[in-house]
Amino acid sequence: MRYRRMPIEVESPEEIGYGTIRHNLAESSMADRRLSELGLALDLDRLILQYGDHRGHPGLRELLAAESAALANQVLLAPGAAGALFIVATSLLEPGAHLVVLRPNYATNIETPRTIGCDVTHLDLTFDRGYRYTADEIAACLLPSTRLVSITTPHNPTGTVLPDEELDRIIGLVEARGIHLLVDETYRDLTVSEPGPFAAARSTAVISVGSFSKAYGLPGLRLGWIVTRDPRLAELFLAAKEQITIAGPVIDEEIGFRVYQQRARLRTGIGAEVKRRVAIVRQWIASERLIEWVEPEGGVVCFPRIRPDLPFDADRFYRTLAEDLGTYVGPGHWFEQDRRYFRVGFGWPALPDLEAGLSALSRAAATATGT
Ligand SMILES: Cc1ncc(COP(=O)(O)O)c(C=O)c1O
Repeated sequence: MRYRRMPIEVESPEEIGYGTIRHNLAESSMADRRLSELGLALDLDRLILQYGDHRGHPGLRELLAAESAALANQVLLAPGAAGALFIVATSLLEPGAHLVVLRPNYATNIETPRTIGCDVTHLDLTFDRGYRYTADEIAACLLPSTRLVSITTPHNPTGTVLPDEELDRIIGLVEARGIHLLVDETYRDLTVSEPGPFAAARSTAVISVGSFSKAYGLPGLRLGWIVTRDPRLAELFLAAKEQITIAGPVIDEEIGFRVYQQRARLRTGIGAEVKRRVAIVRQWIASERLIEWVEPEGGVVCFPRIRPDLPFDADRFYRTLAEDLGTYVGPGHWFEQDRRYFRVGFGWPALPDLEAGLSALSRAAATATGT
């Protein structure tokens, strides 16, 4: 494995310093929360800081299992969804193994298989097709050597949601070939209506990944999970986890358990808040001549672009935005896309910052297109 840092991490707000950004539209979660805001009345002093259960907090695993028709020992807690994805990739893939993965995507979903030395086919999602794809397009990418199909829904950075019928058709494809489908569901709890069961509930060929980072605004917990109903896979993932970290952090898992126990309360209002914020972005786009978008259906990010028929100076755009207007978004190159495209995170900033950031985007777009 030859690791290299990814632009999305090198240039992330936490690495360049939150204090350097006035209007932060680069985050993909709801606002980060303090422990005290969660109302959990925790008594962490009583915890014994021993090695925990290797699979993770049993109570939390029970709660997650109940949403996936899995057994609790088929749920594995991991260091964030990022750690979960790493475990899945390194467990199922090896140099030369073929993988089909969506692009753009959360960078790790592409980068880890690449680092392993896999033969990667990207299914490129395009603005002009509303960032949509079908099971037929996935089928056209499959090879005899394909081991894994990797999708993300709700999708980062576009916010599209794969319809259930299409998901079932993709599951049919992987089942027929005896391979696996990874469904990165990190944004699952960020939908307007109550989400259905994890995709892993649909088939033993499906592996679901999720975490506390996005909907609950708790990325600092570094706590995520893998769900599979295949006992052999569950054992394989556990073996990988044990080599990385043996067990997870007892304190974080206790907090995670308590959060999930109170999930209904902590989710209250999230759907309405997402709706309200999408409406703000929609209204801004409607008034914007230079920028166009595909409206997101889930999550709190979207992936608009500067209209392709306009001249565009990308360096000027991002420089004006950051240096003159104090605004930060996720530039296209974080997602291996043209820099005309950028990710807007509309769930994280306070509303005045969201509005100021959107106005800044309009101003920077005018400067960078010479209009
Ligand atoms: C689709 C997706 N998967 C996984 C992750 C990693 O999240 P976590 O903080 O749980 O490691 C992210 C973070 O941006 C993401 O967007």
